[in-house]
Amino acid sequence: MNNVKAVITGIGSYAPERVMSNSDFEKLVDTSDEWIRTRTGISERRIKADGAGTSDLAHEASKKALKRAGLEPEDLDLILFGTVTPDYQVPSAACILQEKMGAFNAAAMDVGAACASFIFGLATGSAYISAGLYERILVIGAESLSTITDYKDRSTCVLFGDGAGAVVLESRNGSTKEGILGTVIRTDGRHSKLLWIPAGGSVRPVRPDNVNDPGLFLEMAGNEVFKLAVRAMCSAAEEACRRADVAIEDVDLVIPHQANIRIINALTKRLNLPEDKVFINIEKYGNTSSASVPLALDEAYSSGRIKAGDNVLMVAFGGGMAWGATLVRL
Ligand SMILES: CC(C)(COP(=O)(O)OP(=O)(O)OC[C@H]1O[C@@H](n2cnc3c(N)ncnc32)[C@H](O)[C@@H]1OP(=O)(O)O)[C@@H](O)C(=O)NCCC(=O)NCCS
Repeated sequence: MNNVKAVITGIGSYAPERVMSNSDFEKLVDTSDEWIRTRTGISERRIKADGAGTSDLAHEASKKALKRAGLEPEDLDLILFGTVTPDYQVPSAACILQEKMGAFNAAAMDVGAACASFIFGLATGSAYISAGLYERILVIGAESLSTITDYKDRSTCVLFGDGAGAVVLESRNGSTKEGILGTVIRTDGRHSKLLWIPAGGSVRPVRPDNVNDPGLFLEMAGNEVFKLAVRAMCSAAEEACRRADVAIEDVDLVIPHQANIRIINALTKRLNLPEDKVFINIEKYGNTSSASVPLALDEAYSSGRIKAGDNVLMVAFGGGMAWGATLVRL
């Protein structure tokens, strides 16, 4: 048994105020509220204010998580920021956030695993704590997907929203009953072009002559991603439970990545879970990529749906393809 273990001591989230409803999309593309609700489960999503950066959303979520942990920013020794929409290409969103928070005793870096970035951040943070390298880590999932969404493409634009979530991980004695008990992360680069942004990187950089390149927005082969997502999330959930030595029946709440209600329903069925053990808030936020799991975790916690001692299974899937799951006892 490890001498030390990573325990979640604070949870926070933030969603920007501006709401974009399904009927707003009826004015932009050929779609309907009915199609969006039945095919995706989404009714509305949040959109950040002009000029705000992803680090601003993360900052709000982080303040709440730190307050609940009873810590000050200077207490942190590491910041792991999961995002596909950093404020700038350089420096990392984590460094921008560090400055905003005044967390100057921490090292800060971004974690890139698309919608699974928060789970990858938890796995990384938990491993650093178990190795004895850090003791108080802020793990964030935050996104401004509205900035990489093509509002002319009906097959993707209705899906995405902005938001942020954060947790504080702290080092505790290995014999403690709570903490991260099992975690698994996986990737398969063979499917990297099923969900990607073709332009804007080193292969097709943005230049004055291609600023209107549609490849600067997210592109997705929705149907194929859908099938892979169900299979991968199911196996990651089972593996995290096995590693934690917790039977799936003993999980109090599953918090899946909120990408599509039909993916969540398929996962629920495959894992043979009762519906009331699966948390869903996609109707309010859409797919917020790496923010979706911590945003849902905070909602579940703040509403009393989960409490200290509960086994919570978080599972996510996204571009890469990258996926993973974490079993934590709160
Ligand atoms: C994107 C997604 C909602 C599309 O749902 P779907 O049932 O697979 O729908 P399809 O792509 O097969 O499209 C069915 C039809 O609806 C149309 N359609 C797509 N978007 C539409 C919209 N917003 N409004 C109305 N019609 C739409 C398509 O053009 C297609 O029309 P056609 O049959 O005339 O060609 C679904 O595939 C999905 O959620 N995929 C996974 C998303 C995901 O998980 N992404 C991130 C992982 S992190």
